[in-house]
Amino acid sequence: MNVVMIGAGYVGLVSGACFAEFGAQVTCVDKLPERIDALNAGRIPIYEPGLEDLVARNVRGGRLRFTTELGDSVAAADLVFIAVGTPTRRGDGHADLQYVYAAASEIATYLTGYTVIVDKSTVPVGTAREVQRVIRKANPDADFDVASNPEFLREGSAIGDFMRPDRVVLGVQSERAEKRLRELYRPLNLIEAPILVTDLESAELIKYASNAFLATKISFINEMSQLCEATGADVNAVAKGMGMDKRIGNKFLHAGPGYGGSCFPKDTLALIRIAQEHGASSRIVESVVEVNASQKARMVAKIRQALGGSEADKTIAVLGLTFKPQTDDMRDAPALAILPALADRGAIIRAHDPEGTAEARTLMPSGIDYVDTIEDALRDADAVVLMTEWNQYRGLDLRELRSLMRGNVFVDLRNVYERRTMEDAGFVYSAVGR
Ligand code: NAD
Ligand code: UDX
Repeated sequence: MNVVMIGAGYVGLVSGACFAEFGAQVTCVDKLPERIDALNAGRIPIYEPGLEDLVARNVRGGRLRFTTELGDSVAAADLVFIAVGTPTRRGDGHADLQYVYAAASEIATYLTGYTVIVDKSTVPVGTAREVQRVIRKANPDADFDVASNPEFLREGSAIGDFMRPDRVVLGVQSERAEKRLRELYRPLNLIEAPILVTDLESAELIKYASNAFLATKISFINEMSQLCEATGADVNAVAKGMGMDKRIGNKFLHAGPGYGGSCFPKDTLALIRIAQEHGASSRIVESVVEVNASQKARMVAKIRQALGGSEADKTIAVLGLTFKPQTDDMRDAPALAILPALADRGAIIRAHDPEGTAEARTLMPSGIDYVDTIEDALRDADAVVLMTEWNQYRGLDLRELRSLMRGNVFVDLRNVYERRTMEDAGFVYSAVGR
C-alpha cells in the first residue's frame, strides 16, 4: 500500500510514521525545506516521546521517506492524506482552509489510477466535498474518491493514541474507498480497535463535537472550581465523586488554568462559526469558550492575591510554559495569556520549561527571562507558579527550593501538591478549587 502524507507536522509525522510501522510505504511531503532537511538528517523537528525511534526504525526499514516534491509519490499513491494546519482564520474565528485547498490543487494533476484523497486535518462539514470539487476542476478525468478520517491523537501521547485508538472514524462515499482505508488500518484489527464507517459530513462533525465535548468537561470543572473556592469544597474530591458515575467518567475533569493547545481553542471557535453558518445554535460551546477565557483571567487574579494584592516588582518563578506536559507546543498555552498580564503590571518573570522555551521566546512579549534549571528560576523569587504539570515539577525538593527563595508563595495551577505538604515545607500555598 502506497501512502502519501501531505504535511509533516504533529499529526502528519506521527500518522505517517505509524502507517509505515503498519507496513505501508509512506512518503511524507512538507513544503518547508528546513523541516524535510532535518527529517532526512535524522532530526525530529517536534518534541513527541518515542517519535525519534519510530521514525528512525521505519526510515531504516525503507518504509518511510521525506520530500518536498509531491509529484512522483502522488502518482504512485493508493491513498493521499491531507494533514496540513487548519488554524483559526484571522478576524472571524472560522477554520482557515487555505492550506487544505492548496494541497488539494497541488496533488490534482499528479493523480494516476484510482486514488483515495483523505482529509486527516480537522475541517468543517462540507470540506471533503469541496476538496472533491477542487480536484475534479483541475483534473476532470482523475479516478478518485474523497474520504474523511479525523485524527484523535493527543500531543505527548500521540503514538500510543494512534496505535491503540478508542475508535477510527472513516467517512466515505464509496465501498471502494472504505475497502482501501480498512486495508490500511488492518493491523488495528489485532487489538480489536473499533472502526466506525459513516458518511463524510458525520465524520467531519464527529471530530468537532468530540473536541467541543471534552472542552466542555474541562470548562465545567473549572467553573465548579470557582464554586469550590467560594464554599470551601475541594474540587479534586468533587471531580472524583462525579467521575465514579460511569455515565460521567473520570477523564478530563481536572481543574486547571484553562485548556490550551492547537485543537480545543481553535476547534471550539470553528464549531461556533459552523453552527452560525448553518443557522444552528451553539450556546453551550459559546459558554465553554467564555468560561475558559475567564478561568485564565481568574488565574491572574489568584496569583495577584497570593502576592498580597500586587505583582509589581515581585519576582515570579514560572514552572512550565507549554499547554500540557510532554510537548514543545506553545499554541494557545494558558501561559501566553497569564504571564503577559502579570508582566504588564510590573511582575519580573523567570520561566522554566523542559521543551517549550524556544517557541515561547517567539510568542511571548520581551522582558521574560528564560532559565535552564528549576533552581535558577526559584533563586530569590517571591513566588512560584506551577503552570504545567511536567514530571520534573511533581517531586520537587520543597525545602531546598524554599531556602533558595526570597518569598514563600506557591501557586499550584495544576493541583499537583497537597496543602499540608506545602505548608510543612514553609510555603503559603494556593491551588485551583481547593
Ligand atoms: P502543524 O502545523 O504541526 O503541521 C502542518 C504541516 O503542514 C506544516 O509542517 C506545514 O508546513 C505543512 N503544510 C502546509 N501546507 C502544505 C502543503 N500544501 N504541502 C505540504 N505541506 C504543507 O499542524 P498539526 O498540529 O499537525 O495539525 C494538522 C491538522 O490536524 C489540523 O487540522 C489539526 O487541527 C489537526 N489535529 C491536530 C492534532 C494535534 O494534536 N496537533 C490532533 C488531531 C488533529
Ligand atoms: C486534544 C484532544 O484530546 C485530542 O483528542 C485531539 O486530537 C487534539 O486535541 P491535545 O490538545 O494534544 O489533544 O491535549 P489534551 O490532553 O486533550 O489537553 C488539552 C488541554 O486541556 C491542555 O491544555 C490540558 O492541560 C487541558 N486539560 C485536559 C485540562 O485542563 N483538564 C483536563 O482534565 C484535561
